[in-house]
Amino acid sequence: MAHLFIPGPTDVAPEILSAQAQPMIGHRSQAFADLFGRIQPRLRQVFLTQHRVYVTASSGSGLQEAALRNCVARRVLVAVNGAFSDRWYEIALANGIQTDRVDVPWGKAITPDTIGAALSHADYDAIAVVHNESSTGVENPVAAIAAAARTIRPDILVLVDAVSSAAGVRIETDAWGLDVVLTSAQKCFALPPGLAFAAVSDRALERAATVSQRGWYFDFILLERYLARNMTPATPAISLLYALDAQLGRILNEGLEARFARHAEMAEYCQNWGEQRFGLFAQDDYRSKTVTAFSNSRSLDISALNAYLVGFGMTIANGYGPLKGKTFRIGHMGETRGHDLELLFQRIDEFLDGAQAEPPK
Ligand SMILES: Cc1ncc(COP(=O)(O)O)c(C=O)c1O
Repeated sequence: MAHLFIPGPTDVAPEILSAQAQPMIGHRSQAFADLFGRIQPRLRQVFLTQHRVYVTASSGSGLQEAALRNCVARRVLVAVNGAFSDRWYEIALANGIQTDRVDVPWGKAITPDTIGAALSHADYDAIAVVHNESSTGVENPVAAIAAAARTIRPDILVLVDAVSSAAGVRIETDAWGLDVVLTSAQKCFALPPGLAFAAVSDRALERAATVSQRGWYFDFILLERYLARNMTPATPAISLLYALDAQLGRILNEGLEARFARHAEMAEYCQNWGEQRFGLFAQDDYRSKTVTAFSNSRSLDISALNAYLVGFGMTIANGYGPLKGKTFRIGHMGETRGHDLELLFQRIDEFLDGAQAEPPK
């Protein structure tokens, strides 16, 4: 049964937690190269890419920094419609990268037209977008955004934060022409936090070779050199890689299409339920398949609701940042199943009706 209905970290299957307890190995050993080598082709399947997927001992924000430091030689345009796209902008500024932002209201999607118009303002060589804005429950149309951007600037690199959607939603890295698609382990991959993954195109690597201050820990050229030998430049998070190895087996056993369909079905179920009771925060037609943001139209005390749910071992998320109290969010990703949502909604309905049950002792 799922417990965490927050947009990450998500529940981890017991066998995956146990997989972490395998004995330690040296990271320059053949055993490690075998482990890392088993992981790579299966990660490429999940990211729908024939190119490489880097694995780092960090959370997803680390790879946001990596993408910007490696892929921007001149100037980046950041499309902002929520807290995590705002983070793209903050990271660019913090790294001294020339950057501009184009804002659309939170809850609305970034459209190809918005990007097209904004790209004419300066000599951009990269755009940064979030695929699935966990703060608002909006899924941005990154395929159409990438196509529009390339029509205007053929050399542009498209950097995509897919932290709360990769492995739960179909993202066609190669077919859509995306240059970096990054994610964190603790969302749809349903792993403990501490690993991040980035699918990186040849174009992105060629760009990185022209950028002088890429840093060291997240240098794509260095990561590439080590990946060729199934190694990492620095000590990897070996226990987490055991978990990843096992979880990739479970993900591909379920089947990617089945996994994507399960996430889409959970989203539909959640959003139908929520529309009848609250109204949804995200714009119609652009609603996330992994996290739903509800308008708090009944002025519920979200902390009190969560306190009730915690009695039954469940947790949901309040609104993010300025949306705290005005919205609340339910994550439906990773190990969560439709019947888990049914149990959750039953408890929330009890709370709404003032018919609270006694939590189990
Ligand atoms: C869309 C999105 N981007 C970035 C992040 C930051 O990821 P991390 O906490 O793994 O660094 C999050 C975290 O929730 C997120 O939801």
